[in-house]
Amino acid sequence: MSANDLIFIGPPGAGKGTQAKRLCGKLGAPQVSTGDMLREAKTAGTELGLKVADIMAKGQLVSDEIVIGLVEERLSRPDARTGFVLDGFPRTIPQAEALDKLLLKMGRTLKHVVLLEVPDALIVERITGRRTGENTGRIYHLKYDPPPFADRGEGGERLLQRPDDTEEVVGPRLAAYAAQTAPLVAYYADKGLLRRVDGVGSLDEVSARLFAAVGV
Ligand code: AP5
Repeated sequence: MSANDLIFIGPPGAGKGTQAKRLCGKLGAPQVSTGDMLREAKTAGTELGLKVADIMAKGQLVSDEIVIGLVEERLSRPDARTGFVLDGFPRTIPQAEALDKLLLKMGRTLKHVVLLEVPDALIVERITGRRTGENTGRIYHLKYDPPPFADRGEGGERLLQRPDDTEEVVGPRLAAYAAQTAPLVAYYADKGLLRRVDGVGSLDEVSARLFAAVGV
């Protein structure tokens, strides 16, 4: 069964991770974030982590081969059997084609591809104000979704700021999105899977639009 196989695409800092977590809570499906997987590899100091650290810090995309391998392995785990929410993958046409092949092999079909739309003018503020809980991965924003304490999250956990969440790296990240990821909009629109969701507004307003768009 593949009732809940979904993808989130959208520019960096659009709110994909935030909204993917909320949707996963409703669907009971796992969030599969290639960005989180790569950051975990970096924190663990694995060979993969060392290989991608510099590329990520510069705001460039890591190779298709690396992320396709990660996603293949992740989607084969039991918790993804009845659905998944992919966040940050695919990000290039070759990644989308590889996912099509993988799903075909698994006898599954995509249900929705959510495009979270946020204008570039709002992206810098969203990205530079982001903080992430060290243990829970909870995403905060200093202004729009503030943590309970100035420098600590829920339960007193430390707040981390990503090395690529700087004004200098936002430009290259937006450029990578425009050049390599934006072509996916037409790719999925042609397949009748694209659901455009306006990502401007409060977190709850965006969630309400998202849930309506995917019918949950
Ligand atoms: P990744 O981690 O995927 O980063 P991204 O796509 O740039 O997206 P972000 O995680 O920055 O943002 P988001 O849209 O999830 O926003 P969030 O919800 O956190 O990738 C990082 C790097 O890994 C890439 O640059 C690349 O190097 C590599 N990589 C990953 N996947 C890859 C792939 N498939 N191929 C190749 N390379 C890959 O929200 C942002 C902030 O805004 C938060 O503070 C949040 O609280 C706030 N916010 C959210 N919604 C709202 C709202 N409605 N109003 C106000 N603030 C809001």
